[in-house]
Amino acid sequence: MRVTPLVASLAGDQCSTSDDPIQLYYSRKTQEILHKYGPGPRVHFHVGLYPDCPPDSTVPQSVVKQRLFDAQERIVEHSARAWGAHEAPPRRLLDIGCGLGGTSLYWAQEHGASVTSLTVASEHIPIVRHFALQAGVGGRVNPVLADVHDLDETRAYDAVYANESSGYTDRTRLFEVVAKALEPGGWFGIQEHFVGRSTWREFIDGYYRTRLGLRGEYLAAAEAVGFELVHEEDVTDSVVEFWVQSMAWNTAELDRLRAGADAQPGAWSGERLEQSTLAHSRFFRLWRDHAVQTRLLQFRIGGRR
Ligand SMILES: C[S@@+](CC[C@H](N)C(=O)[O-])C[C@H]1O[C@@H](n2cnc3c(N)ncnc32)[C@H](O)[C@@H]1O
Repeated sequence: MRVTPLVASLAGDQCSTSDDPIQLYYSRKTQEILHKYGPGPRVHFHVGLYPDCPPDSTVPQSVVKQRLFDAQERIVEHSARAWGAHEAPPRRLLDIGCGLGGTSLYWAQEHGASVTSLTVASEHIPIVRHFALQAGVGGRVNPVLADVHDLDETRAYDAVYANESSGYTDRTRLFEVVAKALEPGGWFGIQEHFVGRSTWREFIDGYYRTRLGLRGEYLAAAEAVGFELVHEEDVTDSVVEFWVQSMAWNTAELDRLRAGADAQPGAWSGERLEQSTLAHSRFFRLWRDHAVQTRLLQFRIGGRR
């Protein structure tokens, strides 16, 4: 693929030396993600769906963890179904901001897609490769260390997917490069959070290093390059519980550490668990009050370009 790699050799040094705040954030976060949302091979770092009555949160930590994973898988499967992927599976899919590869493996395993997985965190590359091999789709998942803003491919994909990664991008540029990279008639599926009031946006952006946008900004950027919005769903109400369950995992982990359990090197410290729990208690209220909305959007590109 023609993108400008962030390091000279993709196969070489996988240690991040960047001072880019997003790369640094993910370099430091990788072990925490593995510990909380692992063990893999499908590891997700995004919210999940709890569509039914809230489950009991006073259960063992391992049960909470399994339910967090199930909820993450549920939202990915729910989008894929709503976007018609079961009827017409994409043959070649670009997963923008693949994280530890949970979504890339989903598309390869469940829909038989050949997936190109972009991330700006060098630490992710060997992990995604390892999990893809473990899941038996090593030949169909290709992790690439690159910034999506530098993507320069033409008609290379049937579908492009961005699960909680579009919030890191310049939306005008994002829709431009994706429009060019898609085959005519191809689709661009997005899972993302949208925040109205600037104080809350600053809080979330500060925490996750994002620059979350407004729905109108996405629609304008999409329309400008020939996309049509073909499906939209506000899943905020079913996401709220994710923050409760996440806090339940955090407090159980804090209890474990305070009881003298070994902390894994690079994984959660007591201080980080406290920070995270405080932030997630705010997120819970923001999502419950719809000050933030999580939406699933599917755009389709027309034939004229
Ligand atoms: C919240 S994680 C989502 C991970 C994955 N999509 C998932 O759902 O599990 C955001 C991801 O976006 C990636 N990312 C951030 N900015 C990016 C950019 N400019 N180009 C490519 N990837 C980017 C990060 O490396 C990280 O993997």
